[in-house]
Amino acid sequence: MRIEEAEALDSADPLREARARFRLAQGMIYLDGNSLGALPQATPELLARVVEREWGEDLIASWNAHGWIDAPVRVAAKLAPLLGARPNELLIADSTSVCLFKLLSAAVGTRPERSTILSQQGNFPTDLYVAQGLVELVPGLKLVTLPAEQLAEGIDEDTAVVLLTHVDYRSAAIHDMAAINAAAHAQGALTLWDLSHSAGAIALDLQSDACDLAVGCGYKYLNGGPGAPAFLYVAEQLQAELRSPLSGWMGHAEPFAFAPDYRPAEGIARFLTGTPSILTLAALDAGLDTFAGFSMEQIEAKSRRLSQLFIDEVEARCGREVTLASPRDPAQRGSHVSFAHPNGDAVMQALISSAVIGDYREPNLIRFGFAPLYNSFAEVVRAAEILEGILTTRSWDQTRFSARARVT
Ligand SMILES: Cc1ncc(COP(=O)(O)O)c(C=O)c1O
Repeated sequence: MRIEEAEALDSADPLREARARFRLAQGMIYLDGNSLGALPQATPELLARVVEREWGEDLIASWNAHGWIDAPVRVAAKLAPLLGARPNELLIADSTSVCLFKLLSAAVGTRPERSTILSQQGNFPTDLYVAQGLVELVPGLKLVTLPAEQLAEGIDEDTAVVLLTHVDYRSAAIHDMAAINAAAHAQGALTLWDLSHSAGAIALDLQSDACDLAVGCGYKYLNGGPGAPAFLYVAEQLQAELRSPLSGWMGHAEPFAFAPDYRPAEGIARFLTGTPSILTLAALDAGLDTFAGFSMEQIEAKSRRLSQLFIDEVEARCGREVTLASPRDPAQRGSHVSFAHPNGDAVMQALISSAVIGDYREPNLIRFGFAPLYNSFAEVVRAAEILEGILTTRSWDQTRFSARARVT
């Protein structure tokens, strides 16, 4: 496709106004919003206000005067429509890994007669590490991992919880959430989904898909900034029976009664642990505001068009040099695309030197994320053109870097 044609697609794009909500450096093509979302225009001013006015002037009164104490649920309520969840089923807290630990442990605690956490081979490492850590703590518990295609039949009466990442961080392959939830429930097991690569890019409906538990990153498509707090989701009907293993005072029924014994709060608040991180919550709040006025169906539709255009362009221009490592069917794919190249690391470094920012994943994958709110069709064509130039001239061969960009 010629750039002019791609620009015409951009002019007709219903999301075209959204790009102005972000600060993006001129000339850079940022295809890593699946790792760290771009900076929203509103974030610096909002953070300055929270720091200077709320913290600087109103100090401790801000816990009530500026609603700091409610921030984990207030910001969560903004996220709810993006996930198809009820506001009272979500909380913003901690990191994804910590939220995962809390919910995995709580889930296992409701099924003491069962001994298996079932997960996928090649799941994101933190998910497996957290499960391994819990296995060390709980006598008799074990972690079983299976290839994706064997998961549904691998769920049995010994499975306490099925722990999966909805969109695979390498290939972007999507699990059929509703089908796996149904298979788990048929065996009496719970499901815990990591939505880090789905939230804000893929239309989710946790309620109709009968999802039990979920967690996800705030700093990827949700644009919450580096180290943004994560979210956790617990279906309303499960909240009363689940106990957080990190029973801190903020999850107490009456934190300011300073009672000696722990008594969990009613509802989702019981999954809080310590004092919420107000500055990072404010940044995530601004990140979620970038979605205002757009539906997740519109966002997902653009995601699929962007990634499909990229695959088509790359394969047409340099299909002999790289191999698609993502599902070909757009409905089976999240919002990023990976290609395999034997020298993927050097190719990505050459791309980054040419201001096309993606990332590299072992063993040989160059990965490109498409954030529908700010990436354009013209950027997609331009990125494919630059990749073609790098591959056909083998300029990556001269690009030897010792330091690899550290991106998650
Ligand atoms: C699927 C998935 N889960 C979890 C994480 C990271 O978790 P945390 O925010 O605890 O570092 C990532 C980071 O890239 C991820 O891709």
